[in-house]
Amino acid sequence: MISTKVAVAHPNIALAKYWGKRAYGHNLPAVPSLSVTLAGMATTTKVTFDDDLAADELVLNGSPASGEPLTRVTNLLDRVRLRSGVRAKARVESSNDFPTASGLASSASAFAALAVAASAAAGLDLDVAERSDLARKTSVSAARSLFGGFCELRAGREGDETLAAAEVAPKTHWDLAVVVAVTREGPKDVGSSEGMKHTSLTSPYFPAWVESAPAMFETVKRGLLARDFSVLGPAVEQSALAMHAAALAAAPATIYFTGATLEAVLEVRRIRASGLDAYLTIDAGPHVKVVTRGELATEVAKRMEQVPGVLRTIIARPGDGARVVESGA
Ligand code: PMV
Repeated sequence: MISTKVAVAHPNIALAKYWGKRAYGHNLPAVPSLSVTLAGMATTTKVTFDDDLAADELVLNGSPASGEPLTRVTNLLDRVRLRSGVRAKARVESSNDFPTASGLASSASAFAALAVAASAAAGLDLDVAERSDLARKTSVSAARSLFGGFCELRAGREGDETLAAAEVAPKTHWDLAVVVAVTREGPKDVGSSEGMKHTSLTSPYFPAWVESAPAMFETVKRGLLARDFSVLGPAVEQSALAMHAAALAAAPATIYFTGATLEAVLEVRRIRASGLDAYLTIDAGPHVKVVTRGELATEVAKRMEQVPGVLRTIIARPGDGARVVESGA
């Protein structure tokens, strides 16, 4: 048998962060998160189940990949094979149309696109929650890229085997923009899986993070639903910085910041002091992402580009969820 499907997915940025897993197995997040899926950047993934293949194959941005990335891909494909009865191995060809060092190259768009393409190629007719759960079992943040606009993923509970993200508001709900201040093109950081595991095992602040994150999540959600920047913004910043505080208190510390990160943080504060709605968030890397109003994005980007150590900016707006497309890859 030969069966091929192509899917497209976009990265998402958490406005309320996920960091750390439950100890119950099943790759369950320890805290609830809320994100915006971003237009303008996409992962396109083609999955071909082929009886003639001896093993799963992965081609990333045109180059064959093995090791950890291939293992995670096979992990997802095995779930699809188990559920569909398809036994064939698969060739997975995936490419990003955005630079991998943009600070947006998380596993989210990759595993969202893979979940959609692989399940469709295997003939499974999954709804969006089932696809989200399939992606989440390999990469928690990927569960959120199944949805467009704004969505949430609750914390895992003991006994959960399935857990999917859910829409909070469509992309038309609010004209927000995310300005990414790229501070490094260089080598990889400590990956998020590794960083959060280390935090949960060694940081005395991890329990405090798990206890306080739900209230920050609720405030982010309330501010979003009310389209109230004065509620949303401070909670977005607190969620990100509390996550990093937990990582900084690990032994040894997991430090994602560079000098340029801190310069960019200070500039966001100056932009705000000048009267513009601009709040920062930072993921498992040195880049600073500024959440602002759509109409302020160009001005904010111009100011962030003046910061020493900021190499360039990318302006992103709310986009669509992962989906099957006719061709590509
Ligand atoms: O699911 P991962 O391994 O991509 O982890 C994502 C972690 C953060 O990006 C830092 C936060 C988040 O909620 O996306």
